[in-house]
Amino acid sequence: METQAPTASFTHIPNRRPATDEERWIAMENPVFGKVFTDHMARASWREGEGWSDRRIVPLAPIPMHPGAAVLHYAQQVFEGLKAYRHEDGSIWLFRPEANAARLAASARRMALPEVSEADFIAALEGLIAADQNWVPGSPGTSLYLRPLLIATEPSLLVQPASDVDFVVTASPVGAYMSNGDAGVSIWVSTGFHRANAGGTGDVKTAGNYAASMLPQKEAKDHGCQQVLFLDAREDRYVEELGGMNLVAVRADGSVLTPRLTGTILPGVTRDSILTLLRDQGRTVEERDIELAELLQGIEEGEIVELFACGTAAVVTPIGRLVSDGFDVALPALEGESVAEAMLTQLTDIQYGRADDPHGWMRQVVEAPESRED
Ligand code: COI
Repeated sequence: METQAPTASFTHIPNRRPATDEERWIAMENPVFGKVFTDHMARASWREGEGWSDRRIVPLAPIPMHPGAAVLHYAQQVFEGLKAYRHEDGSIWLFRPEANAARLAASARRMALPEVSEADFIAALEGLIAADQNWVPGSPGTSLYLRPLLIATEPSLLVQPASDVDFVVTASPVGAYMSNGDAGVSIWVSTGFHRANAGGTGDVKTAGNYAASMLPQKEAKDHGCQQVLFLDAREDRYVEELGGMNLVAVRADGSVLTPRLTGTILPGVTRDSILTLLRDQGRTVEERDIELAELLQGIEEGEIVELFACGTAAVVTPIGRLVSDGFDVALPALEGESVAEAMLTQLTDIQYGRADDPHGWMRQVVEAPESRED
């Protein structure tokens, strides 16, 4: 698909009626994940034969769209999720934005959308964060969640790749995605529904995957669970991923097990980061097919001692129970620090600048106030 040479300049058109300091403080005090949005958004437009143009940071506003826009009918869209972190000195940093840029490009290729270059992706994020830096929270566990989005805006009911596409990035101050309490979250293992098929779109970040998970997610809630876990569609046998995050298991001997990326599982940036940190510690990390029966038996026999969910939104969330028709299996209460807790600490220490960044994952976007020259 056609792309245009990258440029790194997003024109800033300031919001003339931004939230007041008081409105912003109230909105940021305890934000429900993804419900509060900052004053601006990034935008760019693509047209077949012309490429990308009109790169702007503009006031946050509804996106006017023709009712025949292809995205509304055929869900031709892809998105990303990543976070900006405020460090103690006031500086603001992104975590692995290049990885999200690469995944957005891979998702775009699968959904026949134009790719956004890494330079444009990062320039959009940097421009938006610079404009809305007062919205980056600083209290423990908080961050600015960035949601890049590519949508097919061409008014057309033909089932074919759209010739007009918009790139949009919004930003939301956030805290935790799921509250787990001490016992960890409960997971409903979906039996009647699957998330993805071979050759489908399970390994890219597109709305349809999440739309199809709403009903099983509701089923999970109806059974008192916070999240749904999907099995593979071919054999209904192997664990794949949760509604919007990856799954990791820890054995009693400290080794780690996670479903391999089969093409039906989203390659999470947090998943990759955690597996890297676990390998750095010298742990054995196995990426392979994992049968649900193996997992349940392992938990019951004490061989598997921890399960956790990981993702940008979820960060690292311990799992306390696996539930479905016919079983309800609790993970054991652990003495001392769990691997999930240790990984949460290690990862967030890097993200918030409290620890060294041995893999060069952090990218500074806004300098600390005292190091600015103006
Ligand atoms: C993310 O972790 O960024 C996601 O897109 C998952 C979604 C459930 C919020």
